Amino acid sequence: MSHTFVIFGASGDLTSRKLIPALYLLSKKGRLPEGTRIVGMSRTEFSHDSWRAGLKKTTEEFTGKKFEEESWSKFAAGIYYHPGDLTKLEDLQGLKALLEEVEGGPAERVYYLSTAPRLYTAAIDQLGESGLANQEEGARRIVLEKPFGYDLSTAEKLNKDVNRVFPEKQVYRIDHYLGKETVQNLLVMRFANSIFEPLWNRNYIDHVQITVAEEVVVGRRGGYYDQAGVLRDMFQNHLLQLLMVTAMESPVRFDADMVRDEKVKVLQSIRPMSSDEIARETLRGQYEGYRQEEGVPADSQTETFAALRLWVDNWRWNGVPFYLRSGKGMSCRTTQIVIQYSQPPHTLFDQKAHMDSCRLVMQIQPAEGLQMQIQTKVPDEGMMTRTTPLDFRFCKEFQGEMPDAYQRLLLDALQGDASLFARSDEVELAWGIIDPIIQTWRSAQAPKLHLYEPGFWGPDQSNDWMAEHGRQWFDVC
Ligand code: BG6
Repeated sequence: MSHTFVIFGASGDLTSRKLIPALYLLSKKGRLPEGTRIVGMSRTEFSHDSWRAGLKKTTEEFTGKKFEEESWSKFAAGIYYHPGDLTKLEDLQGLKALLEEVEGGPAERVYYLSTAPRLYTAAIDQLGESGLANQEEGARRIVLEKPFGYDLSTAEKLNKDVNRVFPEKQVYRIDHYLGKETVQNLLVMRFANSIFEPLWNRNYIDHVQITVAEEVVVGRRGGYYDQAGVLRDMFQNHLLQLLMVTAMESPVRFDADMVRDEKVKVLQSIRPMSSDEIARETLRGQYEGYRQEEGVPADSQTETFAALRLWVDNWRWNGVPFYLRSGKGMSCRTTQIVIQYSQPPHTLFDQKAHMDSCRLVMQIQPAEGLQMQIQTKVPDEGMMTRTTPLDFRFCKEFQGEMPDAYQRLLLDALQGDASLFARSDEVELAWGIIDPIIQTWRSAQAPKLHLYEPGFWGPDQSNDWMAEHGRQWFDVC
């Protein structure tokens, strides 16, 4: 059966920056199912040709050296546009007529909602009403971009609204972190090598650190960001996804539901916190200058940095803290997961401290790779030890660039593989963890909001906080 990829919100930034470049590069590599069509819809008036011409320019810009005239022409021949408002039934009926005309028979469709989230429910209702969600002429899948709700109750409502029209198996909630090669490699590393598994538990691991640091500041996204804050923007989705992939048990098979069942169990194991515990176990910060950003109120209390200590109360992880932190205006852009192994039970050598025991650093981005840091004897220095790296870098070992996360995710959506997409229960459980923290942070019991200077590692208090636990952040740029 042939495929159609329908983009709602087609005139938006995401379409030109991510979706079309990813689809074009897939087509150029011969990965897109033969004959895949792309149909865009938004309120802006374009003809098929003028939309193609605009996309050609932006795709050239965003794919740079990888753009080729000939492969573009082949790809662009399958691109169509339909102007309209997706919350209006008559406009969707017009789209339906175009789809039937270009498909000329049964076809599988992916509907990609690249629109403002407040339109999701109205759009989904109209997709149902217009018959576009009807599966008789081929599968109908829907892809949703985050945010999946604003809190637990809005997420539950959104899930209900979506599932009224699309069965859960047809719903693909994108978290682009799962499309990153290095995040998938974490699964491969853990479950395709037998040496890590015996050491991947409370008996050998002191703690885990997950850092997503961004050098960029909020910039022009102030209006959105001030309503969201770092917990909604990064923790509810990306950081908890990284935690799940680090902590989950092996699924029986790499099958969408089996993978997600295991991830869900991790979220179910995260220890709930009382408000007092939240005040102790979390840290909030805001970079200096944030309140001067466009769209941000001068007295904003919104966090641009957070650090949390979470406990996964299950057989494998009992007693092992997971430290999560993320912030904007940090020293550099880096995403890394650090497995800090425990100290040997008895110290024979001149080994300074806890921090000097063995650690595994999974560098998610940039400089994607893996580093095992072990103690080595310093030559000619008695029995003194030093931390030395066993280093693997993707760029040294493999040719070519790392594909953007969207390539993998869009292809999976077209092929009906939901393994790397979030399921409704996963999203709700994640909100169940983040919501109480946000509520406490908005209450009289809120821990202090620490200001920090951009260009460093967040507030100094975050280092003091780790030191109180006898630990320290592992910072590498
Ligand atoms: C998005 C957030 O989901 O992820 C942004 O809304 C953030 O605020 C971005 O900058 C980070 O993604 P990446 O892939 O650059 O780490």
